[in-house]
Amino acid sequence: MDAVASRSRRSVLAVPGSNPRFIEKARGLAVDAFFLDLEDAVAASEKERARELVAAALNEGGWGDRIRSVRVNDLTTQWTYRDVITVVETAGANLDCLVLPKVTDAVQVRWLDTLLTQIERSVGLEPGRIGIEAQIEDARGLVAVDEIAASSPRLESLVYGPADFMASINMRTLVVGEQPPGYDVGDAYHYVLMRILMAARANGLQAIDGPYLQIRDVDAFTRSAARSAALGFDGKWVLHPGQVEAANEVYAPGQADYDHAELILDAYEHATTVRRRGAVMLGEEMLDEASRKMALVVAAKGRAAGL
Ligand code: GLV
Ligand code: MG
Repeated sequence: MDAVASRSRRSVLAVPGSNPRFIEKARGLAVDAFFLDLEDAVAASEKERARELVAAALNEGGWGDRIRSVRVNDLTTQWTYRDVITVVETAGANLDCLVLPKVTDAVQVRWLDTLLTQIERSVGLEPGRIGIEAQIEDARGLVAVDEIAASSPRLESLVYGPADFMASINMRTLVVGEQPPGYDVGDAYHYVLMRILMAARANGLQAIDGPYLQIRDVDAFTRSAARSAALGFDGKWVLHPGQVEAANEVYAPGQADYDHAELILDAYEHATTVRRRGAVMLGEEMLDEASRKMALVVAAKGRAAGL
């Protein structure tokens, strides 16, 4: 199924996999999706304990209809294969996706796809049930993003990783998600966001914006989210309960836009079927088939958000 149209990911909560208190708290938050992290939010000494905690938390349930993911460690580490095997063998029936961080080429995604297929067969899970979300977090990943996006039918989303990305290109700032000081001629992230969005859309994937680390500044989070939402991104990572409502709002269409989109769909349907016209007027606005497609995007996101 086309991942863009399928499951809503307006807010994607990052939960450190080694912290039972945060895992418990996450169960009560109104996010569309979450991932239990085994990667950068977990200290090296805690990696193994975190695997067990994460698998147990998935099996305990209580996650409602949220999309349940686990972020494994990246493929340059010694942990990845055991992360995948332990989590999927133990809790594969209660898991929707794995997040693969720092993806630099298509081979890495194919490796994960193959390993997942073996585990699914071995433990009797439906073949292909575990999806993959690929994080684009450095220059190599961005340059290879088209191949990465086309590398596996398991892929559901491409996720921008701003912190690692900014470090990898030597961007001169320490504030993740904000414009680097000194660059006063536009949005320093426009190219990166558009590049990821194009690769995602060309392959029917969702495009997810990464975290905003000044977690107490909800206005700044909202501004940052609004930029990627305006381009067409489907959602953003949230790190703190205070960011959840803002993400759910920003990545859903406003009520007036949603109502207008439904009106366009009705008017255009009537025009083509009853009046047999391809172009009609709705008030002062001319509608044609392309207008219908635009309205469909807004209406689909609004319906998914329960408007
Ligand atoms: C997320 O993983 C990031 O690096 O921003
Ligand atoms: Mg990262």
